[in-house]
Amino acid sequence: MGVHVASQSPSKSTIIKDRTKILIYSFIFILLIFECESSSSKDENRERDALLMFKMSLKNAEAVLRNWNNPPRLPCPRLGSSRTTPPWRGVICLNGNVCGLQLDCLKLSGDIDVDSLLELDKLRTLSLMDNKFEGAMPKFRKLGGTLKSLCISKNNYSGNIDDDAFLGMSSLKRLDIADNRFSGEVPTSLASSMRLLELRIENNRFVGTIPEFPPTLVKFNASNNQLQGRIPPSLCDITDTSAFSGNKDLCGPPLESKCDESGSSSSPNQIVSKANENMSILHVISVIISCLLAIATLVMVYLQLDMKRDGEKDGVTVATTPKGDGKLTFFRDNYGCFDLQDLLRASAEVLGSGNFGSCYKATLMDGHCVVVKRYIHMTNCGKDEFHHHMRTLGNLSHPNLLPLIAYYYRPQEKLLVYKFVHNGSLSKQLHGDRTNEKKAGGLNWPTRLTIIKGVAKGMVYLYKKLPNLLVAHGNLKSSNVLLDKWMQPLLMDYTLLPVVNVEQAHNLMAAFKAPAFCKQGRIDKNLDVWSLGILILETMTSQKLPSTHGSELERWVETIEREKVFDKEMGGTENAQAQMTMLLEIGLKCCKVDEVEKRPELIEVANKIQQLDEKDI
Ligand SMILES: *[C@@H]1O[C@H](CO)[C@@H](O)[C@H](O)[C@H]1NC(C)=O
Repeated sequence: MGVHVASQSPSKSTIIKDRTKILIYSFIFILLIFECESSSSKDENRERDALLMFKMSLKNAEAVLRNWNNPPRLPCPRLGSSRTTPPWRGVICLNGNVCGLQLDCLKLSGDIDVDSLLELDKLRTLSLMDNKFEGAMPKFRKLGGTLKSLCISKNNYSGNIDDDAFLGMSSLKRLDIADNRFSGEVPTSLASSMRLLELRIENNRFVGTIPEFPPTLVKFNASNNQLQGRIPPSLCDITDTSAFSGNKDLCGPPLESKCDESGSSSSPNQIVSKANENMSILHVISVIISCLLAIATLVMVYLQLDMKRDGEKDGVTVATTPKGDGKLTFFRDNYGCFDLQDLLRASAEVLGSGNFGSCYKATLMDGHCVVVKRYIHMTNCGKDEFHHHMRTLGNLSHPNLLPLIAYYYRPQEKLLVYKFVHNGSLSKQLHGDRTNEKKAGGLNWPTRLTIIKGVAKGMVYLYKKLPNLLVAHGNLKSSNVLLDKWMQPLLMDYTLLPVVNVEQAHNLMAAFKAPAFCKQGRIDKNLDVWSLGILILETMTSQKLPSTHGSELERWVETIEREKVFDKEMGGTENAQAQMTMLLEIGLKCCKVDEVEKRPELIEVANKIQQLDEKDI
């Protein structure tokens, strides 16, 4: 299901309203995570002058870069000084230095003065996407071996790119020159960036063959050029062949078209002799072998990266993280490129602070929002163990699980970065101020049943994927069920038991508030079923749960069982009423206190839920 973070712009009014709060939290946030590193004012003046020089080389910059001005303003506000002055527009700062420029979609043009950027020695990312630059590609190579990400897609650059244009740019991880009018051959110097992870050259006019790239490449697109010949072995495991579509004559795996001897695609009406056929079989075998070799190399490089990541202080991440930063480790690369410093610079809005940890919504500079959750009760878990478990979580993917995008490890605290979704939590929808939204049809019966069905699906997925865990979710409750803009539920805070301090579990995690656990201290595999039951009762009645665990919860369940009062807001016809009663019964069955053994299995419950009918006829 494609809920796109990009489409969620921050609510400006909330941000301004909570300004003071934001300031305080941003400040705490920074103190918590970052060892401050002050920069000399000499540096700052140098950076300011460099940027002003750079700006002078741009056309149409005066209006859009109005806040790039002379003293007293500096490109990056100094740490410790008042945080009310933001950095200059499009300037990404780290520890008071310029580490990135992101000047996308500003209708800029002109002859970029690359030399001026040489003065920015902390510059790691440069993005000039979707502007009006034209002519030959500037000599970015001068920026040398420290630049990690360069995006100049969606401009009008044209002409050949020198073969050595990227020579020596050994740190480059991401290069995006798509959607221009570049012609000539793809420069082979790109192959010298041994760290290249992402390369996009689609929608240009490149001709010739695709050069061999380092096996680090994980994202590649060369579609809609005029490329031909054999696809190099390093790219043969790209499964989405749209990366090669719209070219003149590409052949070989992963495409279906075979290459003939000369390396060009064999056309179907060619007469193939027996000998040729044998040749091509040999060819195919050799290609398969080289592909296998390439895959093996790839796997080895990854293992090495992983080992490095685990063993090193200065972690390697799959994203473009400047060296020396806190290490955000990424799982998913389609959530915009951001780093820890972007998170820190982001305006943070507190979403909630439970006993487990606080939760922030961070709005990145490019408008993307993410949810950052901070955990402090994970200190018993060793580093390797933690990384290992996070990788397990990062591999989970289901439409009803909130995707984990990245995490950050420190002995005393952990940050998990999740995708942001729009409608807040189920808890907020059930118990929050609903006077405004309500009338728009908010949480009617079909919506509630859809939510419960989605939750059940997510839970079943967790149990299928993690058969070895007794309690696969562990913290299912309405505040951990987020709702996207179509009111589809997304589970959050799942599967943390293996890394949480066990002695705290009963204070922290919903499943451990189950009377069965409180009374007998027994972790049985149906604790999650109990949580699901509670969630169903809460959703159907909109009754708030008592804040304590154990007997008070028992009484809460008993009251609901006795009164069976649905939330009137649900509406519903007679048929719907019958379905509602059935769902409530399922919920009550999950919460049976005395008969843990008789409590149904999750699969069983889920099946029953899926059979219910939301049609309100
Ligand atoms: C490559 O780019 C083309 C054109 O922009 C797009 O349609 C296609 O989905 C992309 N494929 C991949 C694998 O990124």
